[in-house]
Amino acid sequence: MRGKYFSLLIVLIVLAFNGVLALNNSSTPKLRRSDFPEDFIFGSATSAYQVEGGAHEDGRGPSIWDTFSEKYPEKIKDGSNGSVADNSYHLYKEDVALLHQIGFNAYRFSISWSRILPRGNLKGGINQAGIDYYNNLINELLSKGIKPFATMFHWDTPQGLEDAYGGFRGSEIVNDFRDYADICFKNFGDRVKHWMTLNEPLTVVQQGYVAGVMAPGRCSKFTNPNCTAGDGATEPYIVGHNLILAHGAAVEVYRKKYKASQKGQVGIALNAGWNLPYTESAEDRLAAARAMAFTFDYFMEPLVTGKYPIDMVNNVKGGRLPTFTAKQSKMLKGSYDFIGINYYSSTYAKDVPCSTEQVTMFSDPCASVTGEREGVPIGPKAASDWLLIYPKGIRDLVLYAKYKFKDPVMYITENGRDEFSTDKIFLKDGDRIDYYARHLEMVQDAISVGANVKGFFAWSLLDNFEWAMGYTVRFGLVYVDFKDGCKRYPKKSAKWFKELLNPKKSN
Ligand SMILES: *[C@@H]1O[C@H](CO)[C@@H](O)[C@H](O)[C@H]1NC(C)=O
Ligand SMILES: *[C@@H]1O[C@H](CO)[C@@H](O)[C@H](O)[C@H]1NC(C)=O
Ligand SMILES: *[C@@H]1O[C@H](CO)[C@@H](O)[C@H](O)[C@H]1NC(C)=O
Ligand SMILES: *[C@@H]1O[C@H](CO)[C@@H](O)[C@H](O)[C@H]1NC(C)=O
Repeated sequence: MRGKYFSLLIVLIVLAFNGVLALNNSSTPKLRRSDFPEDFIFGSATSAYQVEGGAHEDGRGPSIWDTFSEKYPEKIKDGSNGSVADNSYHLYKEDVALLHQIGFNAYRFSISWSRILPRGNLKGGINQAGIDYYNNLINELLSKGIKPFATMFHWDTPQGLEDAYGGFRGSEIVNDFRDYADICFKNFGDRVKHWMTLNEPLTVVQQGYVAGVMAPGRCSKFTNPNCTAGDGATEPYIVGHNLILAHGAAVEVYRKKYKASQKGQVGIALNAGWNLPYTESAEDRLAAARAMAFTFDYFMEPLVTGKYPIDMVNNVKGGRLPTFTAKQSKMLKGSYDFIGINYYSSTYAKDVPCSTEQVTMFSDPCASVTGEREGVPIGPKAASDWLLIYPKGIRDLVLYAKYKFKDPVMYITENGRDEFSTDKIFLKDGDRIDYYARHLEMVQDAISVGANVKGFFAWSLLDNFEWAMGYTVRFGLVYVDFKDGCKRYPKKSAKWFKELLNPKKSN
């Protein structure tokens, strides 16, 4: 009897001790690699302007983010810019070594358009040094068995095209993007088998042309007096339209010229929060549906059906919503092999009367979108104001995409949370571990009911230039000391991923 209790006690102590070693947090779900399919991809993500630096080196042309941050430092919280960022332009081998050390099997990075085409178009010439940089990065990844997932546009429109015809406000951009994509496929497609045309077109439209807080910083004066120009009622829809057509044109080129020989996949990375109805009333449920229509469906529906969502057609009055020609619809319909989902946070949507004055894309859904209900936030806040933590939202968004849009192949192309920068090197990011454990648990739940999710990319590998927040917040699994040559230090969350991805044989 005594012996039996004694061994039980030992077992309990060992279990408790293991728990402390593995993760000192009883509330954080315990995940195993074997909870996910064997061929499930675990990776991490970055984007060119946020990590590369080398902004004025080796023939790279300026993008709208160089202009925005360098010319208007007051628009960036700490007055900073991405001219050095993480210096990945020079330190990319360290980045690849970190990915390898953690055990990730894929890296999602973006290609800087103006590093390849300094003026944005073929007329302005191709920059061989830019091609060489991405060849080196891709080869380094493959040498470590890491799959490259490349995004061709992560918000850094070449300044040359902004000057020539207003960047994405001009329909000319569709042909220039097609030419750029063609160069990418031709030079890198023998080794890159997973492409994303655009990252978060919704963010470009909302933050660049309605709120005006991201490049190129355009909006209606009544929204934000700091905007130098813009019209939040019309421009976002024009820009969104050209983004969708640019995506379609790039996919068309791939299918016509490269798919048969290169055998890769082309998708797009779409972001959305999940929108819950503020109350269970029919009105609020419809408001939540409209909020989804103006965010996720906005870009998904044209790719599936060749048309805009009916809620947008109904609500965007006065001929402000462009239309697709029959030929364009045909090009768009089915123009993806997979859909990337960028998920961070969720909101409530409440039915409100439609505005008749000071109309913008934000008022058109006739829905008030908030992070709290009767003073209670939907979840705990990370460092960024908009990032309220609601893990169930990732499952609900993925299942929504599955059931509403023909069960696409999906990758979670971004997910993560930030913490504030302080003066100290901070590596004990238990909150980030908790965030990932909870979100991955929900992704696993979606897979278990049949969602076709093939992989997960943590945003981000490195602390980096967080757009209008500058370097004031940190999303990295790896800490970057910007004051000391961008020295990299893996945080506790990097070790957590390492343990998840390299389970000890005894477990
Ligand atoms: C466990 O939590 C305690 C305080 O709650 C903390 O001091 C300690 O560092 C944690 N240990 C690990 C391994 O995270
Ligand atoms: C951009 O940032 C760098 C440091 O990262 C700084 O030296 C430079 O002055 C900034 N450029 C402008 C135009 O503000
Ligand atoms: C406009 O710019 C000023 C100064 O940079 C800033 O303090 C203010 O918050 C900005 N206003 C808005 C609405 O962004
Ligand atoms: C445990 O989880 C809570 C959130 O539920 C978080 O605040 C805390 O930092 C976590 N601690 C560790 C050591 O992971």
